[in-house]
Amino acid sequence: MILVTGATGTIGREVVRCLGPERDVRILARDPARVVGASPCADVVAGDYADEASLARALAGVSRAFLVTNRIGDDDERFVRAARAAGVRHVVKLSAAAVNDAGAQDLITRQQRATEGLLRASGLAWTLLRPRSFMSNTLAWAPSVREERVVRALNGTSRNACVDPRDVAEVAVRALTQEGHTGCAYTLTGPEPLSARDQTRELGRQLGIELAFEELGLDAARALLGRRYPPTVVEALLESARRQEENAKSAVAPTVLEVTGRPARSYADWVADHLSAFRGP
Ligand SMILES: NC(=O)c1ccc[n+]([C@@H]2O[C@H](COP(=O)([O-])OP(=O)(O)OC[C@H]3O[C@@H](n4cnc5c(N)ncnc54)[C@H](OP(=O)(O)O)[C@@H]3O)[C@@H](O)[C@H]2O)c1
Repeated sequence: MILVTGATGTIGREVVRCLGPERDVRILARDPARVVGASPCADVVAGDYADEASLARALAGVSRAFLVTNRIGDDDERFVRAARAAGVRHVVKLSAAAVNDAGAQDLITRQQRATEGLLRASGLAWTLLRPRSFMSNTLAWAPSVREERVVRALNGTSRNACVDPRDVAEVAVRALTQEGHTGCAYTLTGPEPLSARDQTRELGRQLGIELAFEELGLDAARALLGRRYPPTVVEALLESARRQEENAKSAVAPTVLEVTGRPARSYADWVADHLSAFRGP
């Protein structure tokens, strides 16, 4: 039995889709009604990292698990402890490429490093997935693209080797279903580093419209992020953006090709499959 967490989120949603109906899959979700795209055969159970009894129930009989957490705290620790107690063999954890960068010392990256460390020390078999920024982060631009034909972002020219979430999910599924991925830490990128201006140009090209790019100052970016995240996370994201300005996020890794046997999807591919989100009424 494979347990998938984070199935209502960006990567987990694709993982359950890729796993398909042939495998025994259980999905842990805070609200099972919000899980879409899973096989009808999947066993969807209610659970929360904060509720240890729910973790024990979800992990019973599970041999491999996909772990996604997205807040500062001890969710990973609780999950790994419960996985050990339940006799899980192998955990595939969604981490981040920034853990490779000694110059990245923001709160989120420090937490990812610490949780990678506790999984490595747990005695469980592990695989670490370390993606660069998800191409889907640009969905945050959709409202201003639709309503004003404008993209507003920090750091218009600094580049990031952003990755398609579907490629991250495909690597996760291989690690969950094939032998040979134990003890591997996979850095996952797209095929080329792109700036926010490059992405804006590609979006405008495929939409067939003139899209303006407005570079946000630090205060404006802080205010915008503050609508979605608590202040400590906002500061971590701004610190992480500084590493991008310092060109720490542009290196391309061959891992998607090596693990899946096909090249990483481009941003143009991602846009082509998500154009409707950016189209005006
Ligand atoms: N975004 C990027 O560019 C990027 C790049 C590299 C690495 N990462 C890493 O990717 C991870 C986030 O992945 P994602 O974007 O796929 O996730 P996401 O879209 O942020 O969704 C988070 C998932 O975790 C679930 N979750 C949150 N708290 C939970 C709890 N207490 N108990 C059970 N489930 C809980 C959420 O369920 P609900 O629907 O119930 O909230 C949701 O399914 C983070 O570790 C981040 O550091 C992100």
